[in-house]
Amino acid sequence: MARAALITGASRGIGLAVAKALLADGAAVCLTARDPEELAEAVCHLGPRAVACPGDVADPAHPEAAVARTLEEFGRLDILVNNAATNAPLGPLMTVDPLAWRRAFTVNVEAPLRLTQAAWRAWMGDHGGAVVNICTEGTHGVGPDVGAYGTAKTALLRLTRQLAAELAPSVRVNAVSPGLVRTEMARFVWEPGERELAAALPLARIGEPEDVARAVRWLVSDEASWITGADLVVDGGRRVRAARPIG
Ligand SMILES: NC(=O)c1ccc[n+]([C@@H]2O[C@H](COP(=O)([O-])OP(=O)(O)OC[C@H]3O[C@@H](n4cnc5c(N)ncnc54)[C@H](OP(=O)(O)O)[C@@H]3O)[C@@H](O)[C@H]2O)c1
Repeated sequence: MARAALITGASRGIGLAVAKALLADGAAVCLTARDPEELAEAVCHLGPRAVACPGDVADPAHPEAAVARTLEEFGRLDILVNNAATNAPLGPLMTVDPLAWRRAFTVNVEAPLRLTQAAWRAWMGDHGGAVVNICTEGTHGVGPDVGAYGTAKTALLRLTRQLAAELAPSVRVNAVSPGLVRTEMARFVWEPGERELAAALPLARIGEPEDVARAVRWLVSDEASWITGADLVVDGGRRVRAARPIG
């Protein structure tokens, strides 16, 4: 029987590309996002093996509901991709609103934990599975104005490793850490200076959502059956740019 996947934040961008990649591999997919209309349109284009579960991952009731919807529709839940995230609040930390800071952690860290707990209780604890948390290449360093996002995503990376240890051997938990990818969330970064940003990368272009989706597809496949607790960086070589040959 075909595998079933739950992908959060999948009405556009990386999440939607992941949904397409897993569908192409024969899986059935349940997609989430807050805007029900954009989500319904995305699901409509994906065809009959895709269903929508609109909601905010920060709503404590949503993880259970999304897992339940996946199981109702497909009778199983083999793959969980924790992709929904917020990069707000942007700006220096000395002026950040602590409640906005807390929301960054609710969306980017607490929700992936709640979703993994719900998936474990309802299916994966008995049947096994694979979880991928979408982190960011930015956990490697420190950037201006992204203190809340970077701190929360670093916590998500740590959560990934902790869960990998706690859920082994039946459930594999890995991270995929994208560099700059052409999506709405990062538009404010790539749109003003894509040519310069691409030229600074060893692989000479910014990422496309499909670049990240291929990494997720591989990590949840049997090809990666001896991999857990890993962080697969998909960044066009950003971390090695200093070693790039000159000329
Ligand atoms: N793009 C990059 O350069 C980049 C780099 C590193 C890491 N990432 C990571 O990649 C992941 C996907 O980002 P993206 O670039 O593809 O962003 P995107 O194109 O803006 O898509 C974000 C998706 O998540 C949904 N979403 C946002 N907040 C949500 C919430 N609270 N609950 C449920 N769904 C929510 C959005 O729909 P609604 O707005 O309707 O909810 C949308 O479907 C994120 O984890 C991000 O941190 C991106």
